[in-house]
Amino acid sequence: MHEVREIAKNVFWVGVRDWDRRLFDSLIPLPYGTTYNAYLVKGLGKVALIDTVNPGFEGELKAKLEQVGGIEQIDYLIMNHAEPDHAGSIPFVLKENKKAKLVLTEKGAKMAKALYRAPEDRMMIVKHGDTLDLVGRTLQFIEAPFLHWPETMFTYLREDRILFPCDFFGAHHAGGDFARDVKELLPLAQKYYGEIMMPFSKSGKSGIAKLEGLEIRMIAPSHGPIWDDPEPIMAAYLSWTAQETKQKVTIVFVTMWQATKALVDRMVQTLSSEDVEVRVYNLPISDIAAIAGDLVDSRAIVLGSPTVLGGLHPQALYAASLVKVLKPPAKFAAVLSSYGWGGGAVKQALEILGPTNIEAVGAVDVNGYPTPEDLKKVEELGKLLAGKVKAQPPG
Ligand code: FEO
Repeated sequence: MHEVREIAKNVFWVGVRDWDRRLFDSLIPLPYGTTYNAYLVKGLGKVALIDTVNPGFEGELKAKLEQVGGIEQIDYLIMNHAEPDHAGSIPFVLKENKKAKLVLTEKGAKMAKALYRAPEDRMMIVKHGDTLDLVGRTLQFIEAPFLHWPETMFTYLREDRILFPCDFFGAHHAGGDFARDVKELLPLAQKYYGEIMMPFSKSGKSGIAKLEGLEIRMIAPSHGPIWDDPEPIMAAYLSWTAQETKQKVTIVFVTMWQATKALVDRMVQTLSSEDVEVRVYNLPISDIAAIAGDLVDSRAIVLGSPTVLGGLHPQALYAASLVKVLKPPAKFAAVLSSYGWGGGAVKQALEILGPTNIEAVGAVDVNGYPTPEDLKKVEELGKLLAGKVKAQPPG
């Protein structure tokens, strides 16, 4: 028997747990694996499958569906999102079941054609506010673009007040059934938000606004455990999508001969003495997801890097580029650098930060190991940064 869970009467979790997955998008570490959640909703007359699973798990999905009535009973296959971790098994389901309609947004239809060669005559395009009657149960569709791709939508099961938002409100963890089963789920959800949703914070805010007026009893995302109490994750998402920040600074650095580290250490000491929360990541040994998670609510970023071949160390260049694309809500930045015979790292860092909304508060660039005077400059910069961080309102 495969694991199937009835999360409400005749609403079944038929997803899979992928404990072995260690990387997402060839970028994001998954220390606890992840799940690809799919849900079978049975009405009195019709049956819908909401999302599918990552390619490679088709057999497991089919076996689970067999336990709750079989793959051939599905009338509607709802595609909330076209990314392969949720939609990759659509060709399999459509092949096994010749009658099911693929329900998706207009943009979703284009993607389903391009990615899965889904036939047009099997598609049913829905718009924001459309409903689907399963007899005794109603699915309502909420277009929520860019959460995470342009075609995304949420599905709301009216009678049971369950929201199926696909990636939104998700977390990467293969364990647990409900949120209460996974300790530290909220920090994991914050990491996930930083990695996946932070570049789309404005879309997130719009997506949440579209939920206004809907009573939500349960949030069943497509990654990680189900939020049977939606309050904690909803409160967190309201804050994150509003880009609220704390009196918190994330420092990311790389050092080769400890000169940059000496600058970073003094910065940490100064910020901490000013009662500012500090998170420090030594880039070559750090988890990018953890950094992304801390950037969700940090008010400032400090980048530390030696000059290597006239510019940033490649690890720092990578981090700076990530900051640019992840669009964290940080308001301020500072740069710490050391060089042997010619600078360049600070200039390159400021060039990358230039087009962002982040104000470069200052930089300390030292030749060789920092002197007591250099460290004094770091202290001054730290105090200036702390003052700005503390004076800035959260939103
Ligand atoms: Fe979990 Fe954007 O796919």
